[in-house]
This record gives sequence, structure tokens and C-alpha cells, in this order.
Amino acid sequence: MQIIPSISALRTRLESETKVALVPTMGNIHDGHLALVKPAQQNGTCTVASIFVNRAQFGPKEDFALYPRTLDADYETLRTAGVDIVFCPSEVEIYSEPQTMMVDLPSIANELCGAFRPGHFRAVATIVLKLFNIVQPQVAIFGKKDYQQLVIIRDMVRQFNLPIDIVACETTRAHD
Ligand code: PAF
Repeated sequence: MQIIPSISALRTRLESETKVALVPTMGNIHDGHLALVKPAQQNGTCTVASIFVNRAQFGPKEDFALYPRTLDADYETLRTAGVDIVFCPSEVEIYSEPQTMMVDLPSIANELCGAFRPGHFRAVATIVLKLFNIVQPQVAIFGKKDYQQLVIIRDMVRQFNLPIDIVACETTRAHD
């Protein structure tokens, strides 16, 4: 498994790949994430897991600083699961300049979970669009657990004509 923090190195590495499957994560990898890795492996020939804790999608009362960061353990778990590449960029790599352009979402983003997290899905759609442009996968896997996120990403992919198949994965929960 290769661990690649830079966008340009990732692009070079992926040049020869024909079916890249992306599993976007914020790390702290558990069985729920591993359930997303399996369909990635079934649907692609190269599996990329991204690990990026996206500050922009945290609200003022949601503690970005306390979000668990377990990179070394995550690498080990993803390696054992057979992931080919982990893309683990820094904040500067992803936001090399202030992100003044954002994906503008319809009112669905302000309902359900979005009603309690103003701006959350706008930031999620923006980072996912950035990850799609960076990795340029043919397939991306999202869990049904975050159903509103899944619907928003699917709509974004359709409306922006992104050539990416979004595969929805059933929810896997820890035994406890
Ligand atoms: O579901 C998540 O873990 C995050 O919202 C995502 C899709 C990785 C974007 O930061």
C-alpha cells in the first residue's frame, strides 16, 4: 500500500490506472469504513482511500480539534484490508488558497441533519468535489448511514455531469 500526501504525486501514480475506486474518509477507520472498501475493490482495479479531516464541514459547536486522528492505526487497518493507496493530504495541500468558491446546494441541504448543521453539506459537497477532481475516480463509495450526504453527492454528480459511478453501501455497525 502506498501512502501519498501530495496531489501531484497521486496524479502521477494514478496515470496508468483505468478504474479507480475512491473511498473518501476522515480517518479513524473502523468496520463501517472497511465495509466501503469491499465494494471499492469489487468495482475498481485500484482502490484509493482518502483521509482528510475537513475543518470546513465542522460547525462552531462541533469540535474539529477533538476529532480522533489515528493515522498510523488507520494505515495498518487499510493495508490489511488490501487498499492500494491512501491519499492523506495536509490542509495546505487541499486548501492552498482560501476556498472562496463553494458548491451551492438546494434546500435539501437545510433539512434533517442540515437543519442543525448550517453550511455542513455545502462544505461536504465542496470537499467531495475537490477530492473527485484530484483523484478522478471512475467509482466512489458512500455509506447509506449518511443518507442525506449520499443523496446530495449523487445529485451533485448527476447535475455536474461528473463521470463517476456512486456506489451506495449498506450500513455496518459495531457490535456494541
Ligand atoms: O462522510 C465523511 O466521512 C465525510 O463527510 C467525507 C465524505 C469524507 C467528506 O469529508
